[in-house]
Amino acid sequence: MQTHHQIPALRQSLQGKTRIAFVPTMGNLHEGHLTLMRAARKYAETVVASIFVNRLQFGVGEDFEQYPRTLRTDSEKLAATGVDALFAPSENDFYPEPQGYFVEPPDFQHLLEGEFRPGHFRGVATVVLKLFNCVQPQVALFGKKDYQQLMLIRAMTRQLALPIEIVGVDTVRAPDGLALSSRNNYLAPAERAEAPRLYQTLNELKADLLREGLDKREILEQKARKNLDKHGWKTDYLAVRQQSDLQLPSLAGQKLVIVAAARLGQTRLIDNLEI
Ligand code: PAJ
Repeated sequence: MQTHHQIPALRQSLQGKTRIAFVPTMGNLHEGHLTLMRAARKYAETVVASIFVNRLQFGVGEDFEQYPRTLRTDSEKLAATGVDALFAPSENDFYPEPQGYFVEPPDFQHLLEGEFRPGHFRGVATVVLKLFNCVQPQVALFGKKDYQQLMLIRAMTRQLALPIEIVGVDTVRAPDGLALSSRNNYLAPAERAEAPRLYQTLNELKADLLREGLDKREILEQKARKNLDKHGWKTDYLAVRQQSDLQLPSLAGQKLVIVAAARLGQTRLIDNLEI
C-alpha cells in the first residue's frame, strides 16, 4: 500500500487509474471502517482510503484535540485489508491556508445532529468535497451509522452533479449490538457495559411501533427516552423520522427510521434503526 501525505503526490500516483473507489475516514480504524474498505473492492480496481481528523467539523468544546490518532496501526490494518493507497495529509498539507470557501448545506444541516452540533455538517460537506477533488473517485462509500451524513453527501453529490456513485453500507456492530465507533474507546468499563442499551432501546421502540401503530409515536418515543434517562443517559434526540428526508412522518406509507444520539458520561453515541 502506498501512503501519501501531500495532494500532488496523491494525484500523481492516481493518474491513469480508470476506476477508483474511495473511503474517507478520520482514522482509529475498527471493523466498521474495514468493512467499508472490503465493500469498496467490489466497486473498483483501485481502493483509496483517507485518514484526516477534520477540524472544520468539530464544534467548540468537542473532542477534536482528544480524538484518537493512531496512524501507524491504522496503516497496518489498511494494508492487511488490501487497500491500494492511503491519503493521510497533515493539517498543513490539507489546509495550507485557512479554509475560507465552504460548502453550505441547506436547512437539513440544522436538523437532529445539526441541532446539537452547529456547523458540523458544513465542515463535513466541505472536507468531503475537497477530498473528492483530491482523489476523484468514481465511487465513494459511507456507513449508515452516520445516517444523516450519508444523506447529506448523497444530496450534495446530486445537486453539485459530482460524477460519483455514493454507496451506503450497513452498520457494523459488536456482538452485544453496540455500533462500532472510535468514540467507544472513551467509555469506562461500566459505561461500555451500559452502552448496548441504546440499540436495544431502538429495537424495543421499533417493536412497540409495529405493535401499537404510528399514532402512538410520540408516547412511544417518550417511553424510549425515559428508559435511557433511567439508566443514566442524557438523550440529545431520539426520534422516528422519514427515511427520505429525516422530517417528521407525514405521508402514509413512508419508510421510517429511528435516529438517536445520547450521552453516557462524557461520551456521545449515535445510532439508528430502519423500520
Ligand atoms: P469516521 O467517523 O472515521 O467514519 C468514516 C466512515 O466509516 C463513515 O462513512 C462512517 O459512517 C463509517 N462508519 C463508522 N462506524 C461504522 C460502523 N460501525 N459501521 C459501518 N460504518 C461505519 O464519518 C467520518 O469519519 C467523517 O465525518 C468523514 C466522512 C471522514 C469526513 O471527515
